[in-house]
Amino acid sequence: MSVTQPITVCLITGDGVGKEVIPAAARVLEALNLGIVFTHAEAGWECFQQRGNAFPEETQAAIRAADATMFGATSSPSTKVAGYSSPVLSMRKLFDLYVNLRPTFSVPGSPAGIDLLIVRENTEGMYSGRERREGDTAITERVITVRASERIARYAFEAAQKRPRRHVTIVHKANVLKETDGLFRECCFRVADEFPDVSYDELLVDACAMWLVKDPRRFDVIVTTNLFGDILSDEAAGLIGGLGIAPSANIGSSGVAYFEPVHGSAPDIAGQGIANPIGAILSAAMLLDYVGCADAARQVESAVRHALSDNILTRDLGGSANTEIMTTAILERLT
Ligand code: NAI
Ligand code: MG
Repeated sequence: MSVTQPITVCLITGDGVGKEVIPAAARVLEALNLGIVFTHAEAGWECFQQRGNAFPEETQAAIRAADATMFGATSSPSTKVAGYSSPVLSMRKLFDLYVNLRPTFSVPGSPAGIDLLIVRENTEGMYSGRERREGDTAITERVITVRASERIARYAFEAAQKRPRRHVTIVHKANVLKETDGLFRECCFRVADEFPDVSYDELLVDACAMWLVKDPRRFDVIVTTNLFGDILSDEAAGLIGGLGIAPSANIGSSGVAYFEPVHGSAPDIAGQGIANPIGAILSAAMLLDYVGCADAARQVESAVRHALSDNILTRDLGGSANTEIMTTAILERLT
């Protein structure tokens, strides 16, 4: 990727708590004095209701023009609404953001020694968007291609090369899904041969789900298909305090990337000012890594750790701090 100077970051708050946690993350980015220029754009359910389009052209242009985008969340109804499709899926498709990175690492207050990275294929699999009803039957096509499997595997092995343990676990369900996950597994094994300095093993997804709970420390990098990665990463977030603190990145090779907390719009707590901003703030740290500001990224992570170890905790973490108090505590610890 090439980053222009000054760095431009597009902010899309989206729906629900996105409106509360993205401004918090932007305050942290601003406080680092990196001269970041912010732009603003709209997307999501509310945007759809107001403008009839959940992902307007001008938002697409703003994302394209920025070095990176911070996205909050969107509310998606569970039933079909004519004309609406989730801007999250649209962004991933339009910009071919084939990597979804979801790190999970121990923070003060969580079990120690966890440091794993889920590398989730982000464009196909169960989320290929090929669903239909045929009378009383509903069918989803689970599409797996060599191209998408090889490039996600390559990304995972390259990521593992930069980590101390240099290990990849290939997660699939090829014993049942012999064609789709059989192909995914084959591709991962082929790519593994290109990385003699990275060790690897494989696990069936159900066993992986069990091991994540029983012994999360055994994992370094996990590479897997779209739906499995979605589920396993929420499970992993549960190991260290929940969705409120889990960050993610969506990256491709088009020069576009967006960063978002793993959680959704949290309608049950939206508008109360109590959402945990850490998932969004750690996503901002991932953005900083992406635009080449690794020192600033470490600064943000360390301020988050410091605030947590000083027992500043939002309600989801068992404390009473609101979004403002948590954000201020992190800002005060940015040294
Ligand atoms: P959710 O992640 O919004 O909420 C799940 C639970 O976690 C709720 O109890 C919520 O209060 C809590 N939570 C989430 N974020 C939190 C935060 N920052 N601080 C404290 N607690 C937090 O998932 P849910 O309820 O399944 O979905 C709500 C809406 O969000 C749906 O419309 C769904 O489609 C959408 N969604 C959007 C995503 C995205 O934009 N990438 C991802 C997941 C869900
Ligand atoms: Mg999810």
